[in-house]
Amino acid sequence: MIILSPEAKGGEDFLSDYWQRPILSQTRQNVFSLYAEDCGLCHKGQYNDWNKSLHSKAVGPGLTGQLRPSKDPSFAASCYVCHAPMEEQSEMKEARGKRQEEYIKNPLFDNRLKLSGVSCSVCHLRGGKIYGPPATSKSQISNLKSQIKGDHNGFVEKDFFEKAEFCAACHQLDEGYELNGKLLVNTYREWEESLYGKNNIICQNCHMPDRQHLWRGIHDPDMVKNGVTIDARREDKKAKLTITNAAVGHLFPTYATPLIIVKGFMLDKKGRVVQSSLKEAYIGRRISLDLSEELFDTRIGPQKRFEFDYVIDKSYNKNKLVFEAWVYPDEFYNRFYRELLKGSDKNLDRKEIEKALSITEESGYLLFRKNL
Ligand code: HEC
Ligand code: HEC
Ligand code: HEC
Ligand code: HEC
Ligand code: HEC
Repeated sequence: MIILSPEAKGGEDFLSDYWQRPILSQTRQNVFSLYAEDCGLCHKGQYNDWNKSLHSKAVGPGLTGQLRPSKDPSFAASCYVCHAPMEEQSEMKEARGKRQEEYIKNPLFDNRLKLSGVSCSVCHLRGGKIYGPPATSKSQISNLKSQIKGDHNGFVEKDFFEKAEFCAACHQLDEGYELNGKLLVNTYREWEESLYGKNNIICQNCHMPDRQHLWRGIHDPDMVKNGVTIDARREDKKAKLTITNAAVGHLFPTYATPLIIVKGFMLDKKGRVVQSSLKEAYIGRRISLDLSEELFDTRIGPQKRFEFDYVIDKSYNKNKLVFEAWVYPDEFYNRFYRELLKGSDKNLDRKEIEKALSITEESGYLLFRKNL
C-alpha cells in the first residue's frame, strides 16, 4: 500500500552512509552470525526485550501477504527499506551494471533472517563489524566481558546511536507521499520542532529508557497512559473530557494508522447505555485507503489538548454519565485488510491477510473510563 521511495535515507549526512539500503551483504565477511538468537546467547536482556517489541515483528503477515517479490521486486524493495533492509533479507536483488529496475534472484537470500525483521544486525552490524553506542563506563564493558564467555573482538563506538536521526532512517519520510500539504510519516520533524527536540530529549530517552530494547508505542496501554493526561468533569448540565499531550515527543498519535475514539453516554437506572445519548469524537489523522484523501486530522501536538464537550439533555439529567477513550492502534490497517479481502486480487496471499486482519481486529483497548 504505502509506496515509498527507496531513497528514504533519513537523518543527517554522518548517518546516511550507515543507513544506505539495502544494507550490503555481510554473509561473506567473517561474521559469526546474523541471527538475533545468536546475539541473544550473550546479550540476553536485549534479546528478550527486542523479541517482545514490534521491531521483531516487522515482517508479519500484513506485509508478506501483500508482496510478490518475484513478480514485483521493486514494490517489495520499497517496503524492505524499513521492514527488512539487509541484502540477505531480500528474495531478489538489483542486477548490477544492467538497466535500472532489473532484478535477479538473490543467491544470498535467507528466509529466516527476513522473518526476523528489524533485528540486531540491521541496527548494529556493518561490514562484519559490531557498532554500538559509547560504553557508559569502563566497568560496563568489563562487567559484560566477565559475565560473557567470548565476544566479537570489541565493537565500534558511535555517538549516533544516541541521536534521534538514527531512528529517522525509518521513522521519517521527506520524499514520498504528501497529503493536504503534510507528509505521511513525519515523526522526526514533529519531534525536532517540539520542546523535546529543542531540549535534546531524544527518541531513545522515551522509547529505550536505560537502553532497553522494548520500543513501546501506541500498542502499549501503559506507554500511552504515561504520555497523556485525561481529565473528566461534570458541572450540572455540562461535562467535559480533556486529553492533553503531556509527554509524547511528537503528535499524538504520530502516524495516520491509529485512531482514538472518545465517547460520552448516559446510563439508565439499570446500567444500560441510553443509545440516543451517545456522542463520539475522533483523535487521529484519517486518510482514505488509497491515500489520496485526508478526511480529518485531529492529532494532538506536544503540550496541546483536545476538548470534548458533552451537554446533558434534561430528560436524562439524573442518570449517570460515562466518558470513555478507546485506542485502535491499527485502525487504518484494519479497514485496509477488510477491503483487500473483498477484492479478487490474485497476487494477494489471502491466508496471510486473514491472519493480519485477526491481529488488527484484536489490538484495540480501553484507555480510560470514568463515571460522573
Ligand atoms: C530499519 C528501520 C527502523 C529503524 C532504524 C527504527 N525503526 Fe522503529 N519501527 C520500524 C518498523 C518497520 C516498525 C513497525 C513494525 C511493525 O509493526 O511491523 C517500527 C516500530 C516502532 C515502534 C512501535 C510503534 C507502535 O506502533 O507501537 C516504535 C516505538 C519505534 N519503532 C521506535 C523506534 C526508535 C525510537 C528507533 C531508534 C532508536 C527506531 N524505531 C528505529 C522500523 C525501524
Ligand atoms: C519509512 C519506513 C517504512 C517504509 C518504506 C514502509 N513501512 Fe510499513 N511501517 C513502517 C512503520 C514505522 C510501521 C509501524 C507504524 C504503523 O503502524 O504505521 C509500519 C507498519 C506497517 C504495517 C502494519 C504492521 C504490520 O507489520 O503488519 C504494514 C502491513 C506495512 N507497514 C506495510 C508496508 C508496505 C506494504 C510497504 C511498502 C509498500 C511499507 N510498509 C513501507 C515503516 C515503513
Ligand atoms: C532499531 C535498532 C536496534 C535494534 C533492532 C537493536 N538495537 Fe541494540 N541498540 C540500539 C540503540 C539505538 C542503542 C543505544 C541506546 C542508547 O544509548 O540509548 C543500542 C544499544 C545496544 C547495546 C548496548 C547496551 C548497553 O546497556 O550499553 C547492546 C549490547 C545492544 N544494543 C545489543 C542488541 C541486540 C543483541 C539486539 C537484538 C536482540 C539489538 N541490540 C537490537 C538500536 C538497536
Ligand atoms: C560470545 C558472546 C557474544 C555474542 C554472541 C555477541 N556479543 Fe556483543 N558483546 C560481547 C561482549 C563481551 C561485549 C563487550 C565489548 C567487547 O567485545 O569488548 C559486547 C559488546 C557489544 C555491544 C556494545 C555494548 C555497549 O555497551 O555499547 C553491542 C552493540 C553488541 N555487543 C552487539 C552484539 C550483536 C548485535 C550481536 C549479534 C550479531 C552480538 N553482540 C553478539 C559478547 C557477545
Ligand atoms: C517525550 C517522550 C517521547 C519522545 C522524545 C519520542 N516519543 Fe515516540 N511516543 C511516546 C509516547 C508516550 C508514545 C505513545 C503515544 C502515541 O502513540 O503517540 C509514542 C509513540 C510512538 C510511536 C507509535 C506510533 C504512533 O502513531 O504514535 C512511534 C513510531 C514513535 N513514538 C516513534 C518515535 C520517534 C522515532 C521519536 C524520535 C524522533 C520519538 N518517538 C520520540 C513518547 C515519546
